[in-house]
Amino acid sequence: MLNFRDPWKIRIARTLTAMLKDAGIDGTVEPSQVIAELPPKPEYGDLGFPMFGFARLFRKGPPWIAQALAAALSGEDARSPAGEDASGGFAAEGPYLNVRLDRGAAAAAVLGAVLEDPAFGRPGTLAGSRVMVEFSSPNTNKPLHLGHLRNDVLGESVSRILAACGAEVRKVCIINDRGIHICKSMLAYQEHGRETTPESERIKSDHFVGNWYVKFSRDLKAETEGLVREKGLSAKEAEAEAPLQKRARQMLRQWEAGDPETVALWKKMNAWTVEGMKETYRRTGISFDQYYFESQTYLLGKAEILKGLEQGLFYKAEDGAVMVDLTAEKLDKKVLLRGDGTSIYITQDIGLAINRNRDWPFDRLVYVVGSEQQYHFQVLFAILKKLGFPWAGNLYHLSYGMVNLPEGKMKSREGTVVDADDLIDSLRDGALAEIREKEREDAIDDPKDVAEKVALGALHYYLLQVNPQKDMLFDPRESLSFNGNTGPYLQYMGARISSMLRKAAAPKDTGRTFNAGLLSGNAEWELLKTLAAYPEAVADAAARMDPSILAAYLYELSKAFSRFYHDCPILNAGEAELSAARLALSRGVLRVLKDALNLICVPFLEIM
Ligand code: ARG
Repeated sequence: MLNFRDPWKIRIARTLTAMLKDAGIDGTVEPSQVIAELPPKPEYGDLGFPMFGFARLFRKGPPWIAQALAAALSGEDARSPAGEDASGGFAAEGPYLNVRLDRGAAAAAVLGAVLEDPAFGRPGTLAGSRVMVEFSSPNTNKPLHLGHLRNDVLGESVSRILAACGAEVRKVCIINDRGIHICKSMLAYQEHGRETTPESERIKSDHFVGNWYVKFSRDLKAETEGLVREKGLSAKEAEAEAPLQKRARQMLRQWEAGDPETVALWKKMNAWTVEGMKETYRRTGISFDQYYFESQTYLLGKAEILKGLEQGLFYKAEDGAVMVDLTAEKLDKKVLLRGDGTSIYITQDIGLAINRNRDWPFDRLVYVVGSEQQYHFQVLFAILKKLGFPWAGNLYHLSYGMVNLPEGKMKSREGTVVDADDLIDSLRDGALAEIREKEREDAIDDPKDVAEKVALGALHYYLLQVNPQKDMLFDPRESLSFNGNTGPYLQYMGARISSMLRKAAAPKDTGRTFNAGLLSGNAEWELLKTLAAYPEAVADAAARMDPSILAAYLYELSKAFSRFYHDCPILNAGEAELSAARLALSRGVLRVLKDALNLICVPFLEIM
């Protein structure tokens, strides 16, 4: 990994150790004990090393050590025996040793790596580890909504970032395709759908199914309100008493008993939903290595729970339900299997986790699921530990907050959730309008395709820019803005650099022939340092499973590039050699930009 700190840490540790020896003090300083900071002002240099930590060892004050260190450094070779280059100027400043890097040498090292090293931006911090990432995991009664869009891009991006750090990643999705909610859309369709199909109605197939779910919910609401009015029942009683509700439950029993007609209807409708969802995944660039279906896994958990009951890990309640007592783990008592033997949400999750580890033994399993399920996952992990699975400690709930739309904007018919497809359509229309307004239509081959990619860039960047744990508002207008901290702004920066490189039509081999030593101006230097920081940003985003770190990095990069672009003429630099060096720097920026955009699922555009 490219970084300027490590060679200096090694050099300082080596010199301090030699100083200790000269002073007759027993002890050594390891590179890991040397702390590197960024000086508060550029005038102090590029790196600052505080000496506080060595005061005890030397029995001297930090300023004394800094002075002595500077003196000792002047008398030795910048190259460590291992060959790292820690060159540059240095000076003691109070308790600090400040270092000014040799800009020419650093520029050559950074650009050389960015342009020539395929492993640049691929820190091997997770090499050899197997990580399974579960995300999206929809229910088959409704199409994907805005919340799924946050989930999807978080899961996809985290997977790409982990893989960039060397992990072997397997992306999985559990489709919750059984249960009472599924029977509701089935029931409404069976009653009122007659022979209609998504094709006959020209409706995207998952929306078609969702509409029947809406129909059921409305009818049920009318029924319960009637019961409240006429029989004076409470809302809860009325819901349980409503004939529609009873029939939905009856249908679930028929499904569980394998009634052929019910199963056939279920198969037909689920295929519609799943096909429609996959279309949305394709559209947004989301993919999975494996789909799990709850209908195929929900029986697995039962056996494990009964085993745990036999082993005395669980107990039976009066009504026959199997329960677990997690009060010692600071959690509650929890039902695992109902008294009538039917399974619930947690039952299938227990079976699913076990199954997944058998399918693909992992070092880590990450669940990207909303924060409202935090308790569920605490309980799930605690139960799997109780059952004694050695991998139970390696499960992680990547919890994310709610995403809402600003009041009054783009509400769906139900007034609460927004369909993913509708939202992307409207973003695409907004982007297309912008392209027309800027009169860019003629310059672009396929304006609709570009508009679609701008829409995805806007959406994904906006959603990932926020730390996953935080709730957020999605502002469609703001996300589409071409100015400021947005996806389209970064896409535009990529298109601008691409266009400049096309104009320069530089011969292919200039990559090796530029003189990096010419890139010594302040704006160039800041930009180079930002490029050099990329691998660490990737590693950091992976360690914290937080793509917002990369979004913030990209914004820094765009600011540093803007300043460079403003301060340093590139094509008209005057001298051909300077032009070539600045073009090489621009190529480096483009490479990192493209790479980072891909990690956060923002499409790159050559022209826009
Ligand atoms: N389908 C569930 C829901 O919509 C989310 C599933 C999360 N994953 C899991 N393994 N429990 O709430």
